[in-house]
Amino acid sequence: MKKSAVLSAASAASVAAAAVGFKYLKKKHICPVCEVKKVISNATVHTKATEEYSNGVALTPPMGWSSWNTFAANINENLILETAEAMKKSGLADAGYVYVNIDDCWESSVRDENGRLQADFSTFPSGIKELCNRVNNLGLKLGIYSSNGTKTCEGRLGTLYHEKIDAQTFADWGIEYFKYDFCHHKPVPTVAPYIDYITIENIENSFKLVLQAENGILSGKAKAVDDEKTQTGKMVIGLSNNEGTLAFDNVNLPLNGEYVLTVHIRKQKKSEKYLEMTVDNADVFPMNFESAGPFSVSGMYQLKLNLKEGKHSFYFKNPFKSEKDSYARQYINMGKELKNATLRFAEKNNCEEKPIVYSICEWGLNKPWLWGKQAGNLWRTTPDIKPYWSSVVAIYEFNVRLNKYSGVGNYNDPDMLEVGNGKLTLDENKSHFTLWCMMNAPLILGNDVRKFILSDGNVDINNNTLNIVTNKNLIAVNQDKRCIQCVRVKTDLLHDILVKPLENGELAVCFFNKGRKSTEMKTDIDQLRKNIIVDLPASKEYECFDLWDEERFITDGIICSQVPSHGVKIYRIKSV
Ligand code: GLA
Repeated sequence: MKKSAVLSAASAASVAAAAVGFKYLKKKHICPVCEVKKVISNATVHTKATEEYSNGVALTPPMGWSSWNTFAANINENLILETAEAMKKSGLADAGYVYVNIDDCWESSVRDENGRLQADFSTFPSGIKELCNRVNNLGLKLGIYSSNGTKTCEGRLGTLYHEKIDAQTFADWGIEYFKYDFCHHKPVPTVAPYIDYITIENIENSFKLVLQAENGILSGKAKAVDDEKTQTGKMVIGLSNNEGTLAFDNVNLPLNGEYVLTVHIRKQKKSEKYLEMTVDNADVFPMNFESAGPFSVSGMYQLKLNLKEGKHSFYFKNPFKSEKDSYARQYINMGKELKNATLRFAEKNNCEEKPIVYSICEWGLNKPWLWGKQAGNLWRTTPDIKPYWSSVVAIYEFNVRLNKYSGVGNYNDPDMLEVGNGKLTLDENKSHFTLWCMMNAPLILGNDVRKFILSDGNVDINNNTLNIVTNKNLIAVNQDKRCIQCVRVKTDLLHDILVKPLENGELAVCFFNKGRKSTEMKTDIDQLRKNIIVDLPASKEYECFDLWDEERFITDGIICSQVPSHGVKIYRIKSV
């Protein structure tokens, strides 16, 4: 395979993936060109994964169902319950599909008097807590959805700026899977305000301390400059884009109690500004300065703090180098809130903690594979999947290259399954499922699973879709404890060979034929073993198990088979 061919395959795939997203974005009234530009831009994301998000769940790719692909906005509590019942009865639950995920359109358009989200009064009249109990009673877990924006994609209430209370609401309801979308998102400004002075007051005891900004410790690009309109004729600038810090160490407070802290700024240019204050190197307080009018030159941000008598430190900076950093940070924050919320609930109710699988869904726009590990359990890598072959292939082409970012507890998410939807043929459905299994992807069904139950109440054992998604050989490849995403070891654009190392030194090998003609495909296990990730022990003979046809055979190393158009062959191989 020539390098140029590989490169053109990659760019063709990106274009195809973009094309799928294009239609979708247009429909959603989002400027498609801007969004695609963002996808292919080289803008650097500076937020690097430092500590992995680990919440003790999703130790293999999560399996379940989501309402979106088939039902979109047409959902209600009966549908969710009927689905959960069908999952139990059809054997899906036993096969591992345990999450019943409600996607967009479950919410009312108003928060309650305490600022909490509430379910749509008309379509979910029993409320989510009750629904969750009922789903739990079936031995399944309930998942929910919101957007890291001011609204969801369908225009319901968003969670941005309500992270703590929404995380707590979900934990209180018993939710165990949370998908966090990206519609109506707002970046945090990378610009910091100019700081005049800071006051710290204990109102009850008439204590007031004034900290002039120019007297603080200035580092990086932070510097004091003259400005005749400020109180002292000076102000501190240079705190934008994570390039400078203003600090006050050893600030002595005379008593324990509640203090009002006010940051006084010199307004300049009509735009939003952002500052983050860290107190005592521990607690972080975000400060949003709204874009303000011209009538006075000074503005302020105020908050109340409980502080102990003694010495304290206050650090001010804008930590965001780019907008993309701020998106990553918003997702990271929500992950922290979810963890805190489930812990708080368990402590308060003296019960076992129910961690929430955290699914990040920003469509790959901000390269979430670079920071997703720190933020959550899984991250969407592409625009939305559609139930047609070109969409499945385009998404595969993009996601398959991200293998090195996937691992135990953290997964590339090429989107929910369309198996059984649209006009996908039997071979296409089998390929779609196989590729997702090989890619260590979450297996979230997107079809109407109630159809697996016949009108007489029996399970439709001849249902092709049911038989595909419950194939235990394939599920074992996906759920392998090593959680290694397959590597594409060979491609000629139309024919790919994928390998996925498994437990006990075994290896899954997959032939994928994207072409229009049935083709003979061939490999030599001893050649595959030369790939660094393959740790199948060398042997004179290998046992191969064809995972769809359930046939076993012994080979000295050569595997050769006829692969149908748009089809796959997948083998589990061990040394004998
Ligand atoms: C976005 C997501 C989809 C789905 C819809 C809901 O498009 O990518 O998976 O959640 O929003 O509106």
